[in-house]
Parts: sequence; structure tokens; C-alpha cells
Amino acid sequence: MPEIFNTIPWPPDISRPQGTKMSASCPPLQRVPSEGSKAERLRCLVETFTSEFSAKPQFCARAPGRVNLIGEHVDYCGYAVFPMAIDLDILIAVGSNATGKLNLINVEDSYPKFSCEINNFEIDKSHPTWYNYILCGVQGIQEEGGRNEPFTGLDMAVSGNIPPSSGLSSSSALVCASALAVAHSHKLSISKEDFAEICARCERHVGTQGGGMDQAISFLATEGTARVIEFNPLRSTPVNLPSGVSFVVANSLAPMNKAANSYYNCRVMECRLACQIMAKQAGLAWKEYQRLGQLQKVLGKSLPEMMTLVSRTFESRPYSKKEICKLLGTSEEDLDKTTLSENTRSIEEFLLHDRAQHVFSEAHRVWEFKRICDEKSDKSVEELGKLMKESHLSTKLLYECSHPKLDKLVDLSEGVTFGARLTGAGWGGCMVAMVKEEEAEEYKELLVKEYYSQEANTKDKDINSVLFSSQPSPGACIYEF
Ligand code: GLA
Repeated sequence: MPEIFNTIPWPPDISRPQGTKMSASCPPLQRVPSEGSKAERLRCLVETFTSEFSAKPQFCARAPGRVNLIGEHVDYCGYAVFPMAIDLDILIAVGSNATGKLNLINVEDSYPKFSCEINNFEIDKSHPTWYNYILCGVQGIQEEGGRNEPFTGLDMAVSGNIPPSSGLSSSSALVCASALAVAHSHKLSISKEDFAEICARCERHVGTQGGGMDQAISFLATEGTARVIEFNPLRSTPVNLPSGVSFVVANSLAPMNKAANSYYNCRVMECRLACQIMAKQAGLAWKEYQRLGQLQKVLGKSLPEMMTLVSRTFESRPYSKKEICKLLGTSEEDLDKTTLSENTRSIEEFLLHDRAQHVFSEAHRVWEFKRICDEKSDKSVEELGKLMKESHLSTKLLYECSHPKLDKLVDLSEGVTFGARLTGAGWGGCMVAMVKEEEAEEYKELLVKEYYSQEANTKDKDINSVLFSSQPSPGACIYEF
């Protein structure tokens, strides 16, 4: 077993600290801030809306992006994650119209305008354009928002400052802001938890089989704390991060749009297949098992015991689809139907051992991270940093979702931070590093010198939008005008 797993104590797990089901409150209504960069963005957004639609917007919906501190690629396996919301967000100014149309514009000219019937549209999975995420949010509220009548037409102007395809959840923020906008304009009262679950489901209309972390933190985030988020059922617990440290986010500038290829869904399927094969070998009705966490619960084993089971069941090599069917006692047609997503049916080989080992070890690191934050010992930050490093190695070596540019950023952070790791889906996008607060500026200067000054595509970018320190920010809200 790789050395990175040696720190997992025996026996830990499954009598987990339980999160608290939050009181079912709705996203708050807030006054528009009177100064600062958000106030300025809102002012420009209202201007764009007014000149496009010849009327003032009625309100503005806001949903933030996030940075995940630890717990990568485990949410869709049913395991807890540890994100915090960031200040970067999607703002949607909204007004109703009498035409039955959904009219969408973006303050950035590079995003084309879009218009359709609000009660009759289709989401094009083959084309993950910006407005498809808005359509996901609309459809989610249509399907699950509790209104039985058709929707009123809406005009929307969108402004976003979360860098797209960077692993900071710009797409989910679009979905969440859109769902919130549609629900608020139809006076539907939906709790933050229900919004989170509706949005996690409806984002799958673009084809990605995401796990729900991004939508959950976008609605449930609280200023000043990160959150442990558990699933099935959705629970969320605030966690105070250690004082005296900064979390620095650095964009590798290698773009990754998880809906534009099948890498992400392939990992979801590899975990599902590993789960189904282990279920079958345990004599369970394998088709009923979709998530490794679901199987762990039924088997009543600890996470290290699950890791042992994985090592006994699989070899660390690719398995052909044919071989997988043989292990499950099923046909390829049946597997396509019962297990695989549309864009993974043509994949010929799947890795099972390494993917499942990543999931079980990473799931464990999340609870270790929380325990260390809660204990607040003198050694906390070193221990947290170590977990972040282990997490990065696991995503890089076992899950193979890193990128040479992310690895370079992580390597540059070695020795000058407590720890650094990729954040979000990976294959590009951002890294997050934990650094002494008073050394954050010096660290950022080092990255500018050693990384960004050599990156051709940094030239046209504001460095503060690719490299910034982040504080835990509040979740989604409505700005009333
Ligand atoms: C994306 C998905 C999340 C999660 C992460 C990886 O952000 O939307 O649900 O799976 O990747 O941790």
C-alpha cells in the first residue's frame, strides 16, 4: 500500500461525528451593499439590465463559488467534503415579462445572448454553454419547486467573476443563482437545503454526474467558517479554521470544463463499478448499489477495512468492460443501462483498485481534518498541511485527476507553505495552499516569479483574479432593490 496511507489510524471511522441538520431557513433577503466592488458590479449589472430590457430589475440573486479544502471526488460516493464559499460569485438581475419568454444576457459580450420559451425548452447536453446552466436551474425549480402552474416570463442579466473552468464552481454557482432567481420571482419558499439538493440534481441535466458539494456550500455557507458537508441526508457543520493562516488559491490557468469531456463521469463510473463488483462478491443485489459509502454502511466496515477489501478484490490495473461484465454476471447492454452514463458507454477500460483506494483514504482525511481543526493543538497547522499533501498525492497518483501545471504549483509550494493540493474536479483549474498569514504576500510573490511570469496566458489577466487569499464567505442571497 502506498506510504501516504500509513497515517490512517486503526480502527477509526464509522461512528462519525454527526453534523447538524440545519434549521430549514430560506436564503436571506439583503440590502444592496452601498460601497465596495460588489456594489459597483451590481450598479453595472442594473445598468446593463435596464438598457437591454428597458425596465429596472426587480431584484438580484447571488450565489458564490467555493474552494474545497479537502475531500476531493468523494461526494458522489456518499462521503463528506470540507469546502468554504469564496467571495467570487454569480449575480443575476431579474425582472418578469409578459411574453412567456426567458431572455438571458451576460454583461460579458463574449457570452452570447439567449432566448427561449420559459415553459418549453431543451437543454443541449452536447454543448455545455453558459446559458445551459441557467436552464438547469429553471428546470430544477419547474420539476421540484412545488408550483403547479406555468412560469411567468423572465428577463435576466448575469454578471460573474468566478473564473470559468477553474475548479471554483462557476457552473454550479450559475445553476444555484438561476434556481434562486426563478423561485424568488414566483414567490416559492424553498429552504437552503432543498435548494442545494434540487440544484445538485438539476445540474445533471448538462450530463455531469456531480455529487452535490458545490451546490450545498453555495447555499449553506456561513461567513467566517468552512463547513463539513455530509450527504444522504444532507447535513452541514460549521468548522473554525485555525487562526494565523491564509488559504491561498492559485489558478494553474489550465482550463477544465468537466461537462466538455468524459474524464469526470469516467471517475464516477469507476467508483460505481468498484462498488457494484464488491457488492456482488458480498452476495448483495449489486444493481441497488451506486455509491461506495452506501456499500460501506451495509457491510458495517471501517474505512481501512474497506481499503483492505479493495486490495483483496482488485488488482491495480485497468479492467476491460468485458471482464467487468463477467465479474458482475451481466451483459454489456445491461451494464450500459444499469450503471454507465451516456458519455461513458464507449469507454473500454476502467481502473477500480486505485480509484476506490483514493475515495476511502480521502473520506478518512476529511474527518481527520475536522478533528484537528476542532482540537486546536499547537501542531494543528502542520498536521492539516500534511493531510493536504497526502490528498494531493492521492488525487495525482491514484485518481489521476491532476495536471502537470497543478503539480508544478504544488511543488513550488513545498517547504514554503504548510501544505498544498488541487481543489475541485482537477485536470487543470486551481490549487489551494495553507500558509502562515504573515507570509502569504511573500508566497504569492514567489508564485508570480516562478510560475505566472512564465505562463503565456497570464498576460491579459489581472493577477488578483488568478492568485488570491480567500476567507470563508457567506452563501447565496437575494439583494432587494
Ligand atoms: C466537481 C463536482 C463536485 C465534486 C468535485 C470533486 O466540482 O461538481 O460535486 O465531485 O468536482 O471533488
